[in-house]
Amino acid sequence: MREKILKLEKSASLLEPKKEEREEIRNKVVEYTERFLEDMKEHKTFNITKDQGAGLYDYPISNMGISIEEAIRIFKDNVEIPGLNPASGGHLAYIPGGGIYHSSLGDYIAAITNRYAGVFYPSPGAVRMTNMLIKWMAELVGYPHMTGGNLTSGGSIANLTAVITARDAKKIKGNNFHRCVVYCTKHIHHCIDKAINIAGMRDCIRRDIKMDMQYKMNCADLEAQIIKDKKKGLIPWMVIGSAGTTDVGAIDPLSTIGKIAKRNNLWYHIDGAYGAFFLLTKEGKTKLNGIELSDSLVMDPHKSMFLPYGLGVLLVRNAKHLKYAHQFSASYFQDVIDPEDEMSPADISPELTKHFRALRMWLPLKLCGTDPFTACLEEKLLLTKYFYREIGKVDGFVTGVEPELSVTTFRYVPKNGDANSFNKKLLDEILLDGRIFLSSTDLDGSFFIRMAILAFRSHLETIDLALEIIKEKTILINNS
Ligand SMILES: Cc1ncc(COP(=O)(O)O)c(C=O)c1O
Repeated sequence: MREKILKLEKSASLLEPKKEEREEIRNKVVEYTERFLEDMKEHKTFNITKDQGAGLYDYPISNMGISIEEAIRIFKDNVEIPGLNPASGGHLAYIPGGGIYHSSLGDYIAAITNRYAGVFYPSPGAVRMTNMLIKWMAELVGYPHMTGGNLTSGGSIANLTAVITARDAKKIKGNNFHRCVVYCTKHIHHCIDKAINIAGMRDCIRRDIKMDMQYKMNCADLEAQIIKDKKKGLIPWMVIGSAGTTDVGAIDPLSTIGKIAKRNNLWYHIDGAYGAFFLLTKEGKTKLNGIELSDSLVMDPHKSMFLPYGLGVLLVRNAKHLKYAHQFSASYFQDVIDPEDEMSPADISPELTKHFRALRMWLPLKLCGTDPFTACLEEKLLLTKYFYREIGKVDGFVTGVEPELSVTTFRYVPKNGDANSFNKKLLDEILLDGRIFLSSTDLDGSFFIRMAILAFRSHLETIDLALEIIKEKTILINNS
């Protein structure tokens, strides 16, 4: 038996490369990533290729390994090249993501040290680092000391965790799901509809509250609906405000909604996945006034803190609700004792084992400080004002609502023909060109092109280039 074990140990030894082998593969990876970063501006932001990465299937997983050079080549051809490069400053669609370098090194350290970040007992430092970030964000928002929070994989899971917490905090049981009412506008992110369904609450009633001309929640309609529902014997349960909608970047009247929620005993949730980190700026702080009145808040560092994909945050004003919805115990955990003042992520979230997400946020914050993040967000707010002004000056273009954060909607109004199909064609031409990536939305039946400026590599030259491309493609269609 000993002989067999030693033989297997030898076969498995490839899993533990020696120092020189580590150095060799690491150098190749660094060489590749450096080339990717240095050459980024020379490549398209959006690339429609013929096989869309299907070449990956030519290299099935097998019992024998390949060289790092070959692995990188397969990755480059099939993953890097086709589709969108979200790391590019030319990504001006949807809500752009980030990819700051320091964060990748945080992930590298997290993966090498493989610290377990779920429970305090085996990994007190990792849990303290997580809780320290939660505390920093809670203070930024203006939440009290009793706040709890969780670092999730993204905004959707953070919103799902919020819905479940709100359900249990308000003691909504299955036999009442069909009587409980959730209030929001049509512009809340669709992940919340998904979350309600996943939470088993598909039967609950959703009231679409009217929006004003700026696509913000009409608070008079909100309160009128709540009163009406109470009279009908329904259970007004939760109101959801947006701190930056995806469609147009609108911020609902957060303070007024907070007061209405309190008066009527509703759970008040805010989706600030896109907009909440603008609290780091003076302008954002003013515009987001009232955010601190919410019971729960989602904010996404992989959006407005420019981190690579894989980090959303849920904050809950009173941690006891988060704990009630998620705490567990198991006999094999009998040795685990947590201190009073440090909550274990596993006790307040659906995950037990998780990626050590705190490090990818802590490292850049420690290395850079918060000032560059604030500057970058302020730059994006100004770039948006600049684009809104400049596109409005271009003959034939109209703009949508004045941007509140960093989303602008605009469209061309042709002298003849259907404006919707013209703008659809214009967007197609821009995407075919690929130097920048834009998206669109439907506003009251009109096709609007959207520009969302949030990629940290989007600068003045990017926006000038975007204006040039938009004008160039408009002329092209008009002359065709
Ligand atoms: C306002 C808002 N909420 C939630 C989400 C979902 O977040 P995620 O894509 O991180 O799951 C998004 C994504 O764009 C968003 O813009």
